[in-house]
Amino acid sequence: MNPLRIAVIGGGYWGKKVIRETLDISRATGSSQLHSIVDNFPESLTQCKREFGGNLEYRTDYHSLAMDPSLTGVHICTPNSTHFEVAATFLRQGKHVLVEKPLTLRTEEAYELVRLANENRAVLCVGHIHRFNNGVRELKRVLADGGIGDVYYLRLRWTALMNPQLLREVITDLAPHPFDICNYLVDAWPEKLACKGRGYRTKQNEELAFITADYKGGLIAHVELSWLDRDKRREVTVVGSKGTANLDCVEQKLALELQGGRREIPVSVSNTLGDEIRHFYDCIRNNQDSTPYSNQSDGILGARVVALLEASRESMFQDRTVQVQLPIIPAIPAK
Ligand SMILES: NC(=O)c1ccc[n+]([C@@H]2O[C@H](COP(=O)([O-])OP(=O)(O)OC[C@H]3O[C@@H](n4cnc5c(N)ncnc54)[C@H](O)[C@@H]3O)[C@@H](O)[C@H]2O)c1
Repeated sequence: MNPLRIAVIGGGYWGKKVIRETLDISRATGSSQLHSIVDNFPESLTQCKREFGGNLEYRTDYHSLAMDPSLTGVHICTPNSTHFEVAATFLRQGKHVLVEKPLTLRTEEAYELVRLANENRAVLCVGHIHRFNNGVRELKRVLADGGIGDVYYLRLRWTALMNPQLLREVITDLAPHPFDICNYLVDAWPEKLACKGRGYRTKQNEELAFITADYKGGLIAHVELSWLDRDKRREVTVVGSKGTANLDCVEQKLALELQGGRREIPVSVSNTLGDEIRHFYDCIRNNQDSTPYSNQSDGILGARVVALLEASRESMFQDRTVQVQLPIIPAIPAK
């Protein structure tokens, strides 16, 4: 079996974590290799060389890579505004692609990537990392087993103090995870969204947002996003008829508050980023059929999350509740 040869595009904060994991997986399994590291900012490449050594292949431009027959796929860790262009370049050449969240900035671009992946029979995965969080998986199991009874509502808090951001806003940056976790937990997409957002230090870019998502059957999810709160949280609370479940997504700690008192649910902590990368490799090897979901729906999941980000911003700008429109994607027959 030939090793998969994967390039990492973007060697910034997250790209370096991805490179570390990619090298670890390669060393542990031998069934994959880091093809190259690409970053168009020389200082980023210098930092990567310092950390990962000079024996790897480093490039400043990704375009020629797309034609390289020795390349299996790419893991894209560039800024959000570049995701569409970089991913489309590789998908058009039939290369497999894992894009960090959010898949793109605009919904139509996201669906275009799904179309390109289907047309070129390439894997399109999205970095919805909490699909690989054993705390989130355990919470889903608790809900499915009726551990807190009928689910009434969800509350998700994604907060931490961040420096003022000039080129990013909090909804696009933080909401992909809560939206994706809600979909994973309740297996549904919201019908309506209402969002309030505001920038305080940077008036032009929101630093705080409160989003309320309405699901069929009366279920509500409330999402709080903040770059202003010193209290760092990555937290999901689910309130049901028999109790409340509280999950710390970073520590992967899950506890239930029930009539009989508090109960800790044991979670075997997972390496979320490593598992996300291994899932991408499994999708490539198994040709569109792997757990926890097929790679085909990965792209669609990513596109739907982008649609929710856009709907949230529309609600905020128009100061009204908006209906969520999610196009139906026809299933692609198996090969
Ligand atoms: N899953 C998660 O939890 C998670 C966490 C953090 C970041 N991310 C995502 O990872 C991505 C990168 O975020 P970051 O914080 O590392 O940003 P960053 O700014 O630290 O790094 C981005 C790097 O991409 C490089 N770059 C920009 N345009 C390029 C191009 N055209 N070709 C090659 N290189 C290019 C930049 O020089 C920079 O080094 C974002 O999409 C972000 O949303 C995901």
